Amino acid sequence: MNRPPVFDIDPQAFWKDPYPSLAEMRKSAPICFVPQLNATLMTRRDDIFTCEKNIAVFSSDQPGGLMTELMGENMMRKDGQPHLEERKQAFPALSPRTVQSVWKAHFERQTAAVLDEIDNRRTVDLVGDFAMPVSGHALRHITGLTCLSAGDMDGASQGMIDGVGNYAGSPEVEARCHAATALIDNAIDTMLPKLEKQPDSSMLSVLHRTGQKLASIRANIKLAISGGQNEPRDAIAGCAWALLTHPEQLQLIGEGGATWRQAFEEYARWVSPIGMSPRRIAQPFSWNGVDLEPESRLFFMFGSANRDESIFSDPDRFDITRDTSKAISFGAGPHFCAGAAASRTLIAEVALPMLFDRFPNMAPDGAAAFGGWAFRGPLAAPVNLNK
Ligand code: HEM
Repeated sequence: MNRPPVFDIDPQAFWKDPYPSLAEMRKSAPICFVPQLNATLMTRRDDIFTCEKNIAVFSSDQPGGLMTELMGENMMRKDGQPHLEERKQAFPALSPRTVQSVWKAHFERQTAAVLDEIDNRRTVDLVGDFAMPVSGHALRHITGLTCLSAGDMDGASQGMIDGVGNYAGSPEVEARCHAATALIDNAIDTMLPKLEKQPDSSMLSVLHRTGQKLASIRANIKLAISGGQNEPRDAIAGCAWALLTHPEQLQLIGEGGATWRQAFEEYARWVSPIGMSPRRIAQPFSWNGVDLEPESRLFFMFGSANRDESIFSDPDRFDITRDTSKAISFGAGPHFCAGAAASRTLIAEVALPMLFDRFPNMAPDGAAAFGGWAFRGPLAAPVNLNK
């Protein structure tokens, strides 16, 4: 048996900056076992791109996993037909057409309101003061839970993310996760009767009309909130920060030499908001000379794939003019992000252009620290609006 080679990491250093270790893994042990994470990591882009589609081996079904236990069984933890069915049922709420015809106007109205809120301030934190409420309002409308505030969305999302990653079993973290899921369940109970009377394009209304079981609806709404709040938040603030700290590239957009969409796609490659997606090895399998053990845990490392030097030249450089078509920031298989169209519109057509249009002289006001490897983004991004 040719087990994956062991690669030790320092968890704190990996959280702060995973890229040096990931580069070393890609070079010397592209499929390796990391004892500190109790998981096998797949780090090269083409390996992930191929293997993710092989769902008979790389299964999303993880019975007894923390996500299923705490949030219910959602589409991201299913394979094959059951997965496709639930995904198809949610599609009318998330399709590119619905995003353009229904959600975009909400995104614009809410973003304008958030900009009005900060308009007369000298300095703001792009994460907490701008990107968080913009992302939260978008998710209120998309999910149909308009009775919650943008801050509720952010808190509930974080509560669930922390709960799902609570491998150490902290009771406080688990309690916060239960509070988050209870908040969402109560909001669903509040909104369902209203949406029955007045159906709309939201996920809750759409899934209810398909006859999806309430337990699955609850689980899928929780999935959209746990996965749909912090990524746009981190991508909006992170991409704005990247442009402010690479002013020549921001200028290029102003001159028409590049687009906001290019800036977003490059940012999501450079600092992938979701750095990994977990799978269960469902049967014996060998790949590139490495034997994967059934029932072991494997992480597809999207954040590493997007810096694979065999695909992207000078991958650590932020360059909005590069070809990002091989980036897999939204995944590379049947679980490809269901919110990709909403995210692209929210971030590249609404949030970034409206922010820079309102504050064209905005500049960094200190340093921004980034953190995380499973989810990664700026912890704070202080700017002077220079009105
Ligand atoms: C910048 C923003 C976002 C990024 C980078 C992102 C990235 C991802 C990634 C990497 C996956 C896993 C793909 C895989 O395992 O192959 C995923 C799945 C998913 N995302 Fe997103 N996401 C974003 C925003 C959103 C938003 C706003 C929503 C909801 C409104 C959303 C809903 C989902 C859902 C439902 C899934 C599971 C799909 C399935 O299992 O079929 N995401 N996302």
